[in-house]
Amino acid sequence: MRVHVADHPLITHKLTVLRDESTPSPIFRALTAELMTLLAYEGTRNVRVEPVTIRTPVAQTQGVRIGKPKPLVVPILRAGLGMLDGMVKLLPTAEVGFLGMARNEVTLEPTTYAERLPEDLADRQCFVLDPMLATGGSLTAAIEFLFDRGAQDVTAICILAAPEGLAAVEKALAGREVTIVLGALDERLNEHGYIVPGLGDAGDRLYGTV
Ligand code: URA
Repeated sequence: MRVHVADHPLITHKLTVLRDESTPSPIFRALTAELMTLLAYEGTRNVRVEPVTIRTPVAQTQGVRIGKPKPLVVPILRAGLGMLDGMVKLLPTAEVGFLGMARNEVTLEPTTYAERLPEDLADRQCFVLDPMLATGGSLTAAIEFLFDRGAQDVTAICILAAPEGLAAVEKALAGREVTIVLGALDERLNEHGYIVPGLGDAGDRLYGTV
């Protein structure tokens, strides 16, 4: 598994405004979309392309285009939805699938409560969007779900992660073809499972409390 922490002043600047508790939802949503275009740029470094020959007004030349099968972008409901627009802006030919993950309050295991994905992901390159890598349970389950369907390789893009959660994902998915791209790696998880310093509940900050 590879981990890449994006290190860029623009990313840190946008993250600072996202973290600020006084930032209202409309600004938070707009900034998440902007931040995502930057993280998507980092996260698509290994997107598969195929060679193509084109003609400029001057000469014939070689280039590349996004390969087939099309990449699949999978936001994890609900907060991952806030990352989708920024991602598909950079990868407009991608298909989009949806995965809803929640914790079973009895077993404490992550369970899938909604799923809209192709049955067969053989040879597909998948990009999972999950803003907060906290304990790592739901991200691990989501990535395993995609591999079980035949995915070729998976890149997860997260805005923030806690070291404990990242270590848990690394342990669970050791040896798998997984890349994790982070906006920042924070200090720790608190006793309520929140990332510290973090930005609070990403779903609530994006969409208001329900
Ligand atoms: N999910 C969130 O939205 N925030 C956290 O800090 C941890 C999990």
